[in-house]
Amino acid sequence: MGILSRPNVPSPSLFASVLDPQGSAARSIDDLWWLMAVVGTIVFAVVAIGLVVGLRRAPDREGPDHGIPGDGLHGATRRWVVGGGVVLPVVTISLVLVATVVVMRSVTVDVEDADVVVEVTGHQWWWEVTYPDAGVVTANEVHIPARTTVLLRLRSADVIHSFWVPALAGKVDLLPERVNELVIDADEPGRYTGRCAEFCGLQHTNMGFDVVAHEPGGFEAWLADQRRPASAPVDGWATTGLAVVEQECAACHTIRGTGAGGREGPDLTHVMSRERIGAGVAPTTRDSLRSWIADPHAIKDGVLMPAAELTSDELDAVVAYVESLD
Ligand code: CUA
Repeated sequence: MGILSRPNVPSPSLFASVLDPQGSAARSIDDLWWLMAVVGTIVFAVVAIGLVVGLRRAPDREGPDHGIPGDGLHGATRRWVVGGGVVLPVVTISLVLVATVVVMRSVTVDVEDADVVVEVTGHQWWWEVTYPDAGVVTANEVHIPARTTVLLRLRSADVIHSFWVPALAGKVDLLPERVNELVIDADEPGRYTGRCAEFCGLQHTNMGFDVVAHEPGGFEAWLADQRRPASAPVDGWATTGLAVVEQECAACHTIRGTGAGGREGPDLTHVMSRERIGAGVAPTTRDSLRSWIADPHAIKDGVLMPAAELTSDELDAVVAYVESLD
């Protein structure tokens, strides 16, 4: 399956910049980045100017400063060597070191300070997102209240992944053997693009997610909505779809309130509430659901979900049912 056979689904926006910080941790990192850029630029300019001046002066200068081997350094030369070779590096590197330590401390908040705890588990190639206090499980979208300190507990179900939302915080690895923690907050409600930032196999590039920040009341409403079991099928067509799903999809997917309780793939209880499917590869529309279920490999080559062996009618019924999972 080459890229030319990819069904016509719009590509997600991958734009996200560390230089457009929207949260406390990202802002601290952005400040450090600018400090390093300015200090580095000044040092580079001073060294470049010194080099040019030295090259222009060297041929027609004679005298005790001229550095005959074994003769030692004298006067102005000694001041340049000690000032530029010892004092300047010690001062600039110490400044950057202190600033780095201050930023490292500022982005590490005590666990007791977190108002919301979210567990994120990396899988090849999608994200499982659990709200342990509310009993909610979703995928590929991390919903948080804006202007609130949120503790993320990160782990992996298979290989090493890395959780990175450039606008909100730095990268933190997800490991199979231990839980890493990351504290984030968002200044304003909005949708912030995240990517896996550690090469984790064939579809590493398509292991995307969003952090969705709500107004605090909106977050509670979202959580209450997600806590509901799946909606019952709306008509006979969707009822048929549910029966097919319980037969064909239940080994890997959970749909709470039905016979589907698998844990290999994303929880689909409220899949239609999510903006995209396949960890970001396609919008949650009827057309892309149909393409995805019929042959996910055509959209995301190597994905662990097998193509469904369904008749066209069964496929339509499954899509009709999945569309009711709001
Ligand atoms: Cu997961 Cu790269």
